[in-house]
This record gives sequence, C-alpha cells and structure tokens, in this order.
Amino acid sequence: MSAEFDLIIVNGVVVTDTEVGEYDIAVKDEKIAKVVKRGELGDVRAARMIDAEGGYVMPGGVDGHVHLEEPPLFGKGSSADNFETGSRSAVCGGTTTMVPFAPQKKTEDTLLDTLSLTHAKAKDNCYIDYSFHLLVGNPSPRALSEFKTLREEGITSLKIYMTYEALKLNDSQILDVLLEARKNQITTMIHAENGDLIDWMTAQLEKRKMFAPRFHGPSHPPMAEIEATHRAICLSEFMDSPILIVHVSTPQATASIAAAQKRGIPIYAETCPQYLFLTSLDLAKPGFEGAKCVCSPPPRESEADCDAIWAGLADGTFTILSSDHCPFRYDDAVTGKKTCITDDYPEGHFKYIPNGIAGIETRLSLALGEERLKLTKFVELTATNPAKLYGLYPLKGGLVPGASDADINIWYPPGKMPKFELKNEMLHHNVDYTAFEGRTLKQWPRYTVLRGRVVWDREGGGLVGEKGYGRFVRREASSLARPRFEGEWDIKEDGSFGFF
Ligand SMILES: *[C@@H]1O[C@H](CO)[C@@H](O)[C@H](O)[C@H]1NC(C)=O
Repeated sequence: MSAEFDLIIVNGVVVTDTEVGEYDIAVKDEKIAKVVKRGELGDVRAARMIDAEGGYVMPGGVDGHVHLEEPPLFGKGSSADNFETGSRSAVCGGTTTMVPFAPQKKTEDTLLDTLSLTHAKAKDNCYIDYSFHLLVGNPSPRALSEFKTLREEGITSLKIYMTYEALKLNDSQILDVLLEARKNQITTMIHAENGDLIDWMTAQLEKRKMFAPRFHGPSHPPMAEIEATHRAICLSEFMDSPILIVHVSTPQATASIAAAQKRGIPIYAETCPQYLFLTSLDLAKPGFEGAKCVCSPPPRESEADCDAIWAGLADGTFTILSSDHCPFRYDDAVTGKKTCITDDYPEGHFKYIPNGIAGIETRLSLALGEERLKLTKFVELTATNPAKLYGLYPLKGGLVPGASDADINIWYPPGKMPKFELKNEMLHHNVDYTAFEGRTLKQWPRYTVLRGRVVWDREGGGLVGEKGYGRFVRREASSLARPRFEGEWDIKEDGSFGFF
C-alpha cells in the first residue's frame, strides 16, 4: 500500500509570520497538505517521518538579494560563487528560494538577452528554487519596451543603481524606469547612494594618500546614502511607482523611509546582516584584513548604528532581511580582494577592492541566534515578506495547506545544540573567508526540506539535495508593493499631470 503522505513532521513548534504553535505538518506531492494541532494527524502512513523534538519548524528562507556568476561590472574581481556553489551554500543554511540578478551592462541594449543568458547559467545548476531580478544598466527605448515581456516571463522586479560609473542611472533614466515599471506592475529595487559624493570623497582621500581598506568607510559617507534615499523616495512618490531601497545602513535613511511610509508612499526597504553585525572597527582591522568587510554601503561607525537598524527591523520599517551575498575570495590576486594590490599600492587601494561579502548561508542563523526579533517577525523578514514583495507568496514563504510548496526549516530543539563559533570551514560557498568568522551561533537548521524532499540533514550527511533539483519559479506581481493611485501617469492639455 502506498503511503498517504510523502513526509510528516511531528512535535514541532511551528512558526509562521503570524503564529507560533504546536502543529504537525503533512506533505504530499511537493506541497504542504495539512497543518494540524500536534497529535491530530493520527495514525497516518508516510514515506518519511521527522520528529522535530520541540524544535522550531518554519517556512524555508527566501533570500531576495543575491549576486552570483556576474561578469565583472566594476573593474577588478569576479564573483567567487556560481549558481551551483551559491545555491549549495544557501541550502546548507536553510534558504530554499533565492532571487539573484540578471545583470545588463551599460553597453547592452536589450534585457531579454540578459535574461536568457542568465537562465542558461542557472539551469540544471541550482540546489534551490530561484528567479531573477533584471538589473537594468541601460534603460534604452528597447529595454524599456521589453518590460512587458519580462512580466510575461515571470520576472516582476528589477534593480537600478544611483552610483557606480558602470551602472549608475541619472534621474531622468530613473523616472523612465519607474514609469514603465509602474505600467507593468514591476517593483523597482534601488541602490541609493550619491555617486558624485562618493567620487568626490574618494578624491579627497587620495589627495591625502589614504588608501588602506578602512578608508572605504569615509569614501561612502552616511550622507551619500541619506541624500540618495531621500531622492529615490521623491522620485518614487512623484511617479507613484513602488520601490524597495536595498541594503539600508544608516539610522537617518531608515528614519526618512519610515516617514515616507507613514505618509502612505509605496516605499519598501531592505537591510542585511552586515549592517547588524559589522562596524567601522571591522574595516579598520590591521593590514589588508579590513578588505574582508568592504561592501557598499560600508559597515557604519558604531554599535549605535547597528541598534538603529535592529530597531527598524522590529518596528516594520524594513520589509525584508536579505544577505546581499556578493562573494569575492580574500587571498586571491586574480579574482578576489587582493586584485587591488599592485606595485603602486602594495597595501591595496580601497577604491579598487571588489565590493561585497558572502552571507547567503549565515543570514538565518546569525539573525535567529541573536534573539532580538520576535519569532514571527523573523519569519516575516526572512521568508514571508520577501516572497510577498517579489510575487512568490503563498507558493513560497508560507506553510499554507494546498498552496505552499513544502519548503521547510526544522531547527534544533532547545538545549540540543551547544553554542558554537562560526568558522569559514563549516560553510559551503566558494569563498576562503567569512566576514562573520568567530561569531557565536546558537542555532543552525537541522533539516531543510525543499518541495517535500529533505535537502539538508545536518547529522545525516549534511548536504543531501541534488544540483538541478532547484528550478526556476515564475513570479506574479508583488502582493505587497502596489501604487497608491489608479490610472496611468500622463499630462493633460492644461498642463496638469497625474494619474488618469
Ligand atoms: C541621462 O542619461 C541619458 C543617457 O545617457 C542622457 O541621454 C541624458 O542626457 C542624461 N540626462 C541628464 C539630465 O544628464
């Protein structure tokens, strides 16, 4: 007789974005079939049973900000992780869905070629399910006309930059993107830093012969983020086009986002573990060591900055907590951080250090172990809201019977996992360091399930999923980020403009 269910998970403390309770879960045909009060599944037959032993059972993590296998866009260095190693690292840390970027270069005219190229890289290579954000480097008339096709292809978000010479859009281009995105119910992610201010500060530091990694901090001062965040909010409000401001790092930008949200503007925001756990002290480590923590925006001045970001997570200003996994090797002068060490700059030059740090595997454990967020909030920020924001809910990010894929994390029961120190050798990325080395962790996923299959079993083989099991997921329009007004933006004959 065949089993009634493919998998049952019993004795767990189930946590969703709204509830914590003692429930048992039954899985059939890749989906959540039942979630019932503990013990109420009765005497069912299942191909596999997992006893959670009182551990938390949560929806699998959804990481909405991931860079993999990107061509070098900012000069030196190239991604250490491809789709295989990045998704492998993800699943070993409890993330079951990721949305990496499909990056269009400034010199390219079309987005659809970028999309098919990225599909080819990801196909049959992923351990977890995935979609892509289109990174728009050149909003040419052709690229803008392709937004409609992107939607039909299940791509409902894109990203633009206000900084970096290779990608930066001016305000007119941003307005073009926001207008077209609104028409097609696409959410626009914005890297909000003032590129000119960064260039100016960089020149001031160079004049003073300040080249060490720690000067990456002052080269990206808080004001660059504060100004650009404010400008992005104004442009979004003007166009009534929903935006997500990525990797927010300063208390002031957080406050201006909160103020815009209070006024009902469709502004959403993201932060990342680097702004919760790292500060300028990490950038100021001796020698070249600080390069390990070079990312943009940089880790900020002090613990007080981190506290303000934690507060923004708790009070709902931040919609999602993503990794911004952007992996570069450290001890690597060909593709990694050390490409900036030359004869002229024997100790490196901050402006040429590849920007980014790896974190797709540590995002969930770091944030959960800190115990600063309510459990429901943790699930909301790391799974449910990223799924809602990017048009994946309830397929992903939830445990809704009949609707959600059976993507599940089962954590260690209380007292079952001794605290341990994070070491890079525990991780599964293709990077030779972690910026979070030595942090004390209290939790790690014990099992991770993707569409009903156990793909991570920490004590039973570790990574037990297969490359290629992960598949592309077509996305709907965001169920969170919607314009305020009906109608299309236009200008009337009398010169009045708005939504008609
Ligand atoms: C913005 O960039 C576009 C494309 O390079 C250019 O055509 C346009 O003149 C720029 N606008 C401003 C105000 O600089």
